[in-house]
Amino acid sequence: MSILITGGAGYIGSHTAIKLLEAGYDIVIIDDFSNSHPIVLDRIREITGKDFTFYEFNLCNAQKIEQVFAKESIEAVIHFAGFKAVGESVKQPITYYQNNLIAVLNVLHAMHQFHVNRIIFSSSATVYGYDNPVPFTEEMPISATNPYGYSKVFTEIMLADIAKASPDFCAVSLRYFNPVGAHASGKIGESPVGTPNNLMPYISQVAAGKLDHLAIFGNDYDTIDGTGVRDYIHVVDLARGHLNALNYTLQHTGNIAINLGTGQGYSVLEMVHAFEKANHVTIPYTIQPRRAGDIATGYADPTKAKQLLHWEATHTLEEMCASAWHWQKNNPNGYSENHTN
Ligand code: WQD
Repeated sequence: MSILITGGAGYIGSHTAIKLLEAGYDIVIIDDFSNSHPIVLDRIREITGKDFTFYEFNLCNAQKIEQVFAKESIEAVIHFAGFKAVGESVKQPITYYQNNLIAVLNVLHAMHQFHVNRIIFSSSATVYGYDNPVPFTEEMPISATNPYGYSKVFTEIMLADIAKASPDFCAVSLRYFNPVGAHASGKIGESPVGTPNNLMPYISQVAAGKLDHLAIFGNDYDTIDGTGVRDYIHVVDLARGHLNALNYTLQHTGNIAINLGTGQGYSVLEMVHAFEKANHVTIPYTIQPRRAGDIATGYADPTKAKQLLHWEATHTLEEMCASAWHWQKNNPNGYSENHTN
């Protein structure tokens, strides 16, 4: 029996693939490399010393998904595949709804057809929107303000409805807070296409001299120093959360959402200073106006993950910053074609 990982060549998918291989699972990865690179597959094999089955296609191709389910003996699905840039989703709603919703519907249909009853879905803290008080708990109402966020909300609702109709079905929607850092080997990490949208890869590229300085989006929020506060979580902790969630689905039924966060918020300036201290670098920055769509403060109540998944984050902020810098230094161009090592 194998675990199907869609988007398994991506940032979080590849770290999770390593965790599953190390735990002794057989895995099948489907990826179209729209936000990843073939070299990641070799890196996963290098790190684990294990092999796995891989298919390259986009999940909007329902026929190809059915062929994979017919050929492979799939026990559960971890669904990462999807576009994830908030700003881009506002400009390209059809692309986002097609790629994120048609794809997951195709996967769910194939699961139903082949009696695969366990799925872990890559959701996001973005579903907590603007109006919930911190710390965010899973029982709070969910909403969205952009097609990327709505694709997460709609998929969580679909999973809840399928679980109501299918007593043997088990779905766990993992609501990620802010994933950062990289595997200790420095062989895999976050490799944004073009200029990074997210804070940590942007800081890393400033430290590497690829970008001139960091623009801090607003310092007039009602926070410790006026800059935005988020719950940053080491991607290796996040990957372990998927392994624990998989074990949960193999012993339970029903539909649940679970926060994967540390429960600790840090401001942008605190992240800048932590990165500088951990890596003995200087990050020049300017203060710019707020970014549209940003909330002031967001961090998790991680109680449910501890109770149900027997999981909690263990990596420190220093380890998050040091591993991000180790990856950046080892891979100055990420996984891009002109990659040097
Ligand atoms: C963090 C903080 C910014 C960049 C988004 C998605 C979420 C998930 C993670 C996909 C904020 C500030 C950032 C910069 C800055 N995406 N910032 N200058 O917005 O919390 O979450 O990415 O899974 O779903 O919503 O993350 O890293 O973009 O921003 O000042 O150049 O850093 O204002 O306060 P965010 P982020």
